[in-house]
Parts: sequence; C-alpha cells; structure tokens
Amino acid sequence: MTHEHEDHHHIDKPIAILGTGNMGSALMKGIINAKLTPPKKILACDTNLPRLQALSAEWKIRIAADLSAAVEISEIILLCVKPQTLESVLQTIKPAIRPNHLVISIVAGVRIKFIQQILGTKLGIVRAMPNIAATVDEGAAAIAFGEHVNGEQQRIAKAIFEAVGEVVIVAEDQLDAVTGLSGSGPAYIYMVIEALIDGGVKMGLSRDIATKLAIQTVLGSAKLAKTSRLHPAILRDQVTTPGGTTINAIYELESHGLRAMLINAVVTATERSKELSKLLNNF
Ligand SMILES: NC(=O)c1ccc[n+]([C@@H]2O[C@H](COP(=O)([O-])OP(=O)(O)OC[C@H]3O[C@@H](n4cnc5c(N)ncnc54)[C@H](OP(=O)(O)O)[C@@H]3O)[C@@H](O)[C@H]2O)c1
Repeated sequence: MTHEHEDHHHIDKPIAILGTGNMGSALMKGIINAKLTPPKKILACDTNLPRLQALSAEWKIRIAADLSAAVEISEIILLCVKPQTLESVLQTIKPAIRPNHLVISIVAGVRIKFIQQILGTKLGIVRAMPNIAATVDEGAAAIAFGEHVNGEQQRIAKAIFEAVGEVVIVAEDQLDAVTGLSGSGPAYIYMVIEALIDGGVKMGLSRDIATKLAIQTVLGSAKLAKTSRLHPAILRDQVTTPGGTTINAIYELESHGLRAMLINAVVTATERSKELSKLLNNF
C-alpha cells in the first residue's frame, strides 16, 4: 500500500456505529482492518449488550452509554439498525445532531428525504446498499449522496464501503435495482451452489466433495471474470468445446430459460424493494 493510497483512505475521525448486528459489525471490522480510524475512535451502540461487550473486548472499540452520547462524541454516524427501528433511533439522536455531522445509512428502503425530514434538511446524508459479503470483505455496495454531502464526506463514505469490498456510486432512485441485483443476489447464488451440489451428489459424488467443488467453482468463476475483465460470454465460449459436455449443459440451461429466470428475479426483487420503500417512507 503506498502512502498516497493510505492518505486517500484515512479518516481518523470519531465514528458512531448505531446497531452492531450483521452489517454494523462487518463495517466496524472493515474500518479497523483498513486502519481508517483507530478502534478507540469507534463508538458502538446496540440493544444487545452482551454482543456489544464481546465486540468491544475483541476489537477494542468503545461502547457508548446511549445513542445520543455516541452521536455527540462522533463526527460520522453509521445507521445500521433495522428499518422498523430507524424512525425512533432518528428521533432519539435528533437533539445531538450538529450541522457538520455526516450521516451514513445502510437501512434498506428508507430514503434520504425521510432522514432529512427528521434530522435536518441541510445535513450531509449518504445512503448505501451493501450486501452480506461485506462480512468477508467481498461486499458489493452502491452508495448515493444527498444534495448536501461535500467532497470530503463523499470520500469518507466511499472509503468505509471500500474497506469491505467494491463500491459504485449511483443516483438514489437506482438503489432499488441495486437491492434486486447485489443486495438480494447472494441468495440467488446460494441456490445455484446448492443445486450444483445436488447435481454432483445425484451423479455419485460425496456431499463433502460436491460442496467443495461447487463453492470453489462459483468463487473461481467470479474471480476470473473480475480479474480478466473479459465479457462473461467470452469466458463461457472458452470452456465450450464443440460437441463437448459444456455445450450440452448450456443447451439444457437455455431451454429452461436460466437467463430469463435470473433477469426476472432481479426485476421482481427491484419491484418489491420499491413497494417496501413506499410503505416505509409514508409517515
Ligand atoms: N444483512 C444484509 O444483507 C443487509 C444488506 C443491505 C442492507 N442491510 C440493512 O442493514 C441494516 C442492518 O441489518 P442487519 O442484517 O445488520 O440487522 P441486525 O443483525 O438485526 O442488526 C441490527 C442491530 O441493531 C440493534 N438495534 C435495534 N434497535 C436498536 C437501537 N434502538 N439502538 C441501537 N441498536 C439497536 C439490534 O439489536 P437487537 O438484536 O437487540 O434487536 C441489532 O443488533 C438493516 O436496516 C438492513 O436493511 C442489510
């Protein structure tokens, strides 16, 4: 890592993490591992005290007395609670909010405007849609910037999600499609892995061996697509010998509409995300 690179990613500001469940703790670990800010500048708050204490003991982060205390001491606020809880959390922290706070929300479906209406219309607010692979630093996240987010705040938000994977910047109205693709996407891939395992088992492989091969095939194919930067169709052609095994399998997948099925999965998940978002933002 070069010095320039380090400086580019350095934050060194106190960060409040409100909600240290799956995603909150994944982001916390990413921030610490990437040395964005020292652990003593991370203030965590969660209703699950035993888990919070365990995280604090392991990662040397600070436990805030309550939500407001975390917000008062910090400059960056990461909102990582469930959508149903968000409104009450926002009402609680509202008196502690200062104009220069950067608020980053990963809460699915809740719009920047909703957060602004409670915390203040001039506040810098970032909305992100990460995915569960952030827990192993291979996340795919999209982030959208509210109108008052300045350049430095954009850099900080990007650095936080880059600490746990890939980041793209989108307009807020594209976050539903992001949810349908990469937010829900891991579930689709788990189904593919599961089915490949069963295929191997059906053909006589032990479940252990089939599992190892199926998982590594998905991981390796993704890695090759990412590092070679070749179009997936070219990569597929490279392993498709005329008259061979792969073309027969491809014909089977095509005749059952695998690609249309996956396209429709993204479409329907996107539509559902829009519906849920409408319900959540109606207050
Ligand atoms: N998981 C994903 O793949 C994913 C992907 C994209 C976006 N998101 C978004 O990320 C957010 C968090 O998801 P998650 O999977 O990390 O959920 P989670 O594991 O349930 O974490 C939420 C945490 O917040 C805590 N909490 C609840 N009320 C609180 C309060 N008033 N003050 C402080 N902490 C409080 C919960 O404690 P208790 O357990 O005691 O309730 C829990 O530990 C959600 O809004 C979700 O939409 C998740």
